[in-house]
Amino acid sequence: MAPEQSKSGHPGSSPSRPPRLKQPWPVQAWRIAHADNSIFDDARSRHGDVFQLSLGRIKWNFVAHPEAIKEVFTTSPDILHAGEGNEILATALGDRSVLLLDGKEHMRQRRLLLPSFHGEKLAKQTSTIERIAEEQVARIPRDRPFSMRTQSQKIALEVILEVVLGTASSGVEHDRLGEATKKLLDWLASGMRLFASQMLGPRSRAIRRMYRPVLEPLDKGLFALIRERRQATDLKERDDILSMLLLARDEDGQEMTDREIRDELVTLIVAGHETTATALAWAFERLTRCEGAAERLHRESLTEEKEYSRMVAQEALRLRPVLDFVLRLVKQPIEIAGYRFEPGDVITPSIYLVHRREDIYEDALAFRPDRWLDQQPGTYTWIPFGGGVRRCIGLSFAMAEMEIVMRAVARAGVLAPVGSDETPVQRFITTSPARGGEVLLPG
Ligand code: HEM
Repeated sequence: MAPEQSKSGHPGSSPSRPPRLKQPWPVQAWRIAHADNSIFDDARSRHGDVFQLSLGRIKWNFVAHPEAIKEVFTTSPDILHAGEGNEILATALGDRSVLLLDGKEHMRQRRLLLPSFHGEKLAKQTSTIERIAEEQVARIPRDRPFSMRTQSQKIALEVILEVVLGTASSGVEHDRLGEATKKLLDWLASGMRLFASQMLGPRSRAIRRMYRPVLEPLDKGLFALIRERRQATDLKERDDILSMLLLARDEDGQEMTDREIRDELVTLIVAGHETTATALAWAFERLTRCEGAAERLHRESLTEEKEYSRMVAQEALRLRPVLDFVLRLVKQPIEIAGYRFEPGDVITPSIYLVHRREDIYEDALAFRPDRWLDQQPGTYTWIPFGGGVRRCIGLSFAMAEMEIVMRAVARAGVLAPVGSDETPVQRFITTSPARGGEVLLPG
C-alpha cells in the first residue's frame, strides 16, 4: 500500500512534518553510531514509513516505502543534494570528488568517470580480478578460522592498485602506493575520526592537520603516478581506470586536471574498498549459516555456472546492505509521501527498512538466495547501491568482484561457520559483521 498522499491535520491546510521518535537525542545518536538498527524498526513500527530521528543539531527524515523512495530518487538533483550530504568525507576525498559535488559539476565528473565502468572495460578487468582472488585464496589457512573481511580487504586493495591505478603487481611504486592506501583506509576505519570531523567540520584546520600524516604520502605517490602516466604512449591500449580518466574529455573537450584525477582516484579507493570487502564478509557470514548453501556454492564454483553466486550476492546485499541509508539535503521546499520538507532538512532513504518489507520479500528476515530465481531486483525495492543520478558508479564492478571472490573461495572447499551469528558494528561508513565474517575452510 502506498503512503497516504497528504499528511495534514485539516482539510486545505499544508502537509505536516514527519513524526519524531520520542527518545532523548543522545540515545538516538548513540544507537545510530553503534549500528543498533533496531532504532529503525522501533521508529517504523511506531510512526510508519516516514519518521524523523535526531542526532542533536542534525535531524534525519527516514523514508521506508518504495513509492516514497522513488519520489526521492527521481526528484531533480537541484532540489535534493547528495554531495552536500556526504560533506563529512571532504578532508580525504577533496573538493572535486564526484561524491561531494552537486548539480552541473557533479554531472560533469560523473560523465567523465562512467565510461571507465562500462561493460566492455569491465570484461577485460575481470581476468585481473580473478588472478588476484586466486592468489589470495591460495594463502588462506586451512582448518583454522579466518576473517573473510581481512582476506577480501587484501583482494580489494590489490584490485585498486592494479585495476584502478594500473601499477604492476610487484615493484616499488606498487608497494609504496599500497602502503599509503592501506594507511589511509585503516585510519578512516575509526568511527572516532569521523565523529571528530562531524564536530569540528571536515574542512577545519584542526581536522586537516589531523589527516596530514596519512594523506601526504598517498597524495605524493598519486600525483607522481598521474604525471608519469600522462607521458605514456600506450594509454588507449591500457585497461586501468587511471589511464581512462586521462583520456576522458568533457562536453567542451576539456581534459581532467591532476587535482580532479587525484580526487576521483581517492574517491574510488574509499568508496570501493571497504564497501566491497564488507559485502563479501556478510555474504560468507550469512551463507555458512544457511542449510546446504555453502555446499551448493562450492559445487557451482567447479562449473561455468554463475547463477547461484549472483543470487547469494544479491541476497547478502539485501539482508545485510553494508550502507543502511543514503542522504539527500533539501535545497527547496518539497512534499514527499505527503509530508512537507524545508531547505536544510535531510531526507534519508532507508535501505535497511525497504529490504526488510514483508510486502516485498516473503519471510524477509531469512537469508534465501533462491528468492531471486523468480524475482528481479527492483529499482526502488533493492537499493544497496542507492539510486537516481547518484546511483553507485561501481555497481557492476562490485557485483563482478563479489562473484569472482566468492567463487574463488568456494572452489577451495565447503566453507563452515565459526561461532554464533555475528552482530552488526559500525566501521567507517559501513555496517560490518563484528568478527569480520569468520569462517573456516576444511583442510
Ligand atoms: C558492494 C559494494 C558497494 C556498495 C554497497 C556501494 C554502495 C554505494 C552507495 C549506497 C552509494 C550512494 C548512492 C546514493 O547516494 O544514492 C554509492 C556511491 C558511489 N560509489 Fe559505490 N558501492 C560499492 C562499491 C563501489 C565500487 C567498487 C566503486 C568504485 C570502484 C564505487 C564507487 C562509487 C562512487 C564513485 C559513488 C558516487 C556516485 C555519485 O555520487 O554520483 N562503489 N555506492
